[in-house]
Amino acid sequence: MHVMKLHNHYEPERTSLVPIESLAAGRVLRGCARSPARVQTQEMTTASTLAPLRWLDPPEGPAIELLDQTRLPVVEAILTCRDVPQLVGAIRRLAVRGAPMLGVAAAYGVALAAARDDDVPAAAAAIARARPTAANLAWGADRALDAWRSAVAGSSPVSGKIAGAQAALAEAKAIAAADAAASAAIAAHGLDMVRPSARILTHCNTGSLVSAGEGTAFAVILAAHRAGRLEMLWVDETRPLLQGARLTAWEAGRSGVPHKLITDNAAASLMASGQVDLIITGADRIAADGSVANKVGTYGLAVLARHHDVPFVVAAPMSTVDFSTPDGASIEVEFRADEEVATVGSQPVAPAGTAAWNPAFDVTPPSLVTAIVTERGLIKPVTAGNLRDQGAGTGAGMGPQAAL
Ligand code: MRU
Repeated sequence: MHVMKLHNHYEPERTSLVPIESLAAGRVLRGCARSPARVQTQEMTTASTLAPLRWLDPPEGPAIELLDQTRLPVVEAILTCRDVPQLVGAIRRLAVRGAPMLGVAAAYGVALAAARDDDVPAAAAAIARARPTAANLAWGADRALDAWRSAVAGSSPVSGKIAGAQAALAEAKAIAAADAAASAAIAAHGLDMVRPSARILTHCNTGSLVSAGEGTAFAVILAAHRAGRLEMLWVDETRPLLQGARLTAWEAGRSGVPHKLITDNAAASLMASGQVDLIITGADRIAADGSVANKVGTYGLAVLARHHDVPFVVAAPMSTVDFSTPDGASIEVEFRADEEVATVGSQPVAPAGTAAWNPAFDVTPPSLVTAIVTERGLIKPVTAGNLRDQGAGTGAGMGPQAAL
């Protein structure tokens, strides 16, 4: 298999020091930001053991191990973050990514700072601003910081350090457990919307790489597959960083989900040919009015879906809903380096120095979203009132959970 090298334009130096061209495909590697990585001899591990994130207690830690998503699907490399700057670098270059997993990683990052006796509020702030769009990132950092603050405030100066570190770690574990439970509930609610023989199109990557469970949109797709209702999963490649081609196709293959990869610009004619019954994506931030920020290209799919009368569904945990962001215009969209557009992997595809416009996300207005599926059920139609009701846990505003 061709070894693909993906550049990180935020971090001048790679956090793992193995030159990936020298590696055999499918190997599990372990890297560390401070010491040179070493190649391990073990074979490719199975999906169940390839967690996107793992906490290491002393004496191996305190540290956070990440499955470096920039290297998938060619190499399964483990990256060990021993301090918060290393974690922030990994978040910025998308070694760990996807909204729910960013919340989990943020909380573990605060726990790491607390375990190291670093400046915990400063560490939480650095993590929260590592990327601006995914609501879960600041949410996870804030929750772990609050837990740390409460524990420190209730302890003596001597015991405060231990109590604070324990509380932050316990909160990170609780966030991960809640995310896994939310993922399972999203899958169950989402399955109700999927008709037999469904041909589903998805964008970006929303499976177990972005979640402590089986993900968001991909968890629904997996549930549909297990229920015998999935005829085909159409996987958008998701330029510029190819999360669909590199990660979703990898997850689908490992799970036995029937899938075909399409270029992003083939989605329109695929829909026109009548081969898409449902579109399901995840979300990075959902504003109070139901506007959905997700990987760039999502808005275009929603417009196409409306034109072709295809239901467009967003699957996300409530932790992605940000009631303090009133509407789509208020969502900060991350812009990334021009070079990501001007290259595919390490290969230039434009003349050197070509300028690009590279928003990582776009915003889909609620009027184009058929339904939002959260762990609490289905929101349909997507209105500020229905979203607020579900946030309050009243259940009001939940549409019938029937195939769309
Ligand atoms: O830039 P990324 O790869 O972090 O973007 C991720 C996405 O856009 C996902 O679709 C989104 O986080 C939903 S994942 C459940």
